[in-house]
Amino acid sequence: MAKSIQDKPTLAERAAASAATASDSVQSSQVWNSIFRPGSVFRKGYTDSPRNRSYVIMNSVLYHLHPVKVKRHAVKVSYTLCLGGLSFFLFIILTVTGIFLMFFYRPTAAAAWQDIYTLQTSVTFGLLVRNMHRWGAHLMVLSVFLHMARVFYHGAYKAPREFNWVIGTILLQMTLLLSFTGYLLPWDQLALWAVTVGTNMMGYTPVFGDQVRFVLLGGKVIGTDTLLRWYVLHVLLLPFVTVIFMAIHFWRVRKDGGISGPL
Ligand code: HEM
Repeated sequence: MAKSIQDKPTLAERAAASAATASDSVQSSQVWNSIFRPGSVFRKGYTDSPRNRSYVIMNSVLYHLHPVKVKRHAVKVSYTLCLGGLSFFLFIILTVTGIFLMFFYRPTAAAAWQDIYTLQTSVTFGLLVRNMHRWGAHLMVLSVFLHMARVFYHGAYKAPREFNWVIGTILLQMTLLLSFTGYLLPWDQLALWAVTVGTNMMGYTPVFGDQVRFVLLGGKVIGTDTLLRWYVLHVLLLPFVTVIFMAIHFWRVRKDGGISGPL
């Protein structure tokens, strides 16, 4: 009699058993297995083996951006100083804050300065976001330059990474152009004269000087057409090209065998 009482499963045991059966049948279903690819920790029978660890990285949309294995020195902050990553992080910050600014800014000579002024004085967090964008831009120029210096110091410009060095120089130019085109947008005295000096210098380009200056100004003198032109470059064309080159840059870091070896 005592034995049969002992054998009878308690309510909690029965609940646990039916939960296990339910979870088993969910994990065996086609829907579940088509969402969670081999190696997923959510799959039935997952074990912590080197093969499954590789699968976890390769089969996840987020993790697969990372290599399955990295060299020990490459994850040391003191090797890269995370300057490439920092440059990318600043680019993301600039994109997010830039989108915020676009809601309050019209690129015309009549409205631009007033819009920036209103943004700073009347829009909630306007001054903060504008300053984040401005300081972020200065910091990105600095971090990209320091990243380039780090790569040079480690001799990472040598084969097989010479192609990525060239992609990097394009990214440096994109960063500088983004910074310069953004400078005109507040349409204040500083911006006007900086762009006047810049475009005058471009006017001294051999043979095509006048044409180059005309294209950059959208006319003979600096005005609304210049503003619209530089606005489109700043918010659309240059970020688009930068994202494409960044994607190639990151892909090449992987394909060139990860970060270069220690000195
Ligand atoms: C928007 C600008 C840039 C971004 C976001 C960027 C991002 C990165 C990242 C995340 C890495 C991985 C290692 C690290 O963090 O140091 C890297 C590596 C590298 N970058 Fe850049 N980079 C930029 C500009 C440049 C420039 C201007 C150059 C050189 C002219 C350059 C050349 C390289 C090279 C050669 C590597 C491989 C380094 C190694 O193997 O040690 N990058 N970059």
